[in-house]
Amino acid sequence: KYKKKSQYEIQTFTNWLLRQEQADVIDAELTVVLSSISLACKQIASLVQRAGISNLTGVQGAVNIQGEDQKKLDVVSNEVFSNCLRSSGRTGIIASEEEDIPVAVEESYSGNYIVVFDPLDGSSNIDAAVSTGSIFGIYRPNEGCFPDLGDNPTLDQLEQNCVVNVCQPGENLLAAGYCMYSSSVILVLSVGQGVYGFTLDPMFGEFVLTHDDVKIPLKGKIYSFNEGNYALWDDKLKKYIDDLKDPGPSGKPYSARYIGSLVGDFHRTLLYGGIYGYPSDKKSKNGKLRLLYECAPMSFLVEKAGGKGSDGHRRIMEIHPEEVHQRVPLYIGSVQEVEKLEKYLA
Ligand code: AHG
Ligand code: MN
Ligand code: MN
Ligand code: MN
Repeated sequence: KYKKKSQYEIQTFTNWLLRQEQADVIDAELTVVLSSISLACKQIASLVQRAGISNLTGVQGAVNIQGEDQKKLDVVSNEVFSNCLRSSGRTGIIASEEEDIPVAVEESYSGNYIVVFDPLDGSSNIDAAVSTGSIFGIYRPNEGCFPDLGDNPTLDQLEQNCVVNVCQPGENLLAAGYCMYSSSVILVLSVGQGVYGFTLDPMFGEFVLTHDDVKIPLKGKIYSFNEGNYALWDDKLKKYIDDLKDPGPSGKPYSARYIGSLVGDFHRTLLYGGIYGYPSDKKSKNGKLRLLYECAPMSFLVEKAGGKGSDGHRRIMEIHPEEVHQRVPLYIGSVQEVEKLEKYLA
């Protein structure tokens, strides 16, 4: 009755996108944006894998708006991401970790989507060839924020307009995802219904569906925190971490896993279960991770996979960014693990 699935019947990211479009889950414009993002990820993957050969390790010699020493690959991957989005013709505004302020894209002629991204996450790991990634989120332009700025808007009127458009809560996300550059290159995303993973097949340079409708385990005994900051943490959080180490009746404590790349630590948490946390501390009262292009996209994904993303007290998805590079504490992963932590912090 049904055509036998041939062993060579693979589903590429391109076919998958077209099927989402046919099913009206996304429109043709968004398909173009997502396709341009997958191209950027392929290019960054090859740059990362050859960094040591093409003299792309080490620092650029500049400090970004975050106050971080930019790596050469921070700058290059930011350019790759921006160029792919510009040439899509469907991107209206971009906001990046590596751009001081959001940038209006003049090449846009339809769609006008807003794309926020962290072009290279975990870049401190590049010189040691440890997993890194790119993170992105896509918003519809909130029409209300395109006031008529008259014929000759001033520069700061335009800048203010971009910021207003970009600062939207995670709940407004149309799509979000990441690409992890590790032993495999895996593009993981959601366009609103479920989470899907595509592994780059180097044999023919296509992302192939390998993780169909990912669901995060309800619980997991892996915790992922930088315990080097323990002394700076709130006492309630210290108690939580201490109790994870207590073998308890099962005789087995939690395991610690932390590689210092949000994308790598999150991907393991998504597949194996557990909790990743970047708390606020005495030195950084809002923690380190950025709401717009790290915490909100990851929280969008984890919720679509049946997990939870919290700042310790409320859903990350409900937090309305006041400022493009705003930082928030992040606790994300299995529902039971995040809820357990929230009880300690209450
Ligand atoms: P980025 O490289 O994009 O600036 O992000 C780094 C972030 C995140 O990837 C990671 O989880 C965290 O910084 C690690 O911070 P610590 O080194 O302070 O643990
Ligand atoms: Mn950085
Ligand atoms: Mn990052
Ligand atoms: Mn980064």
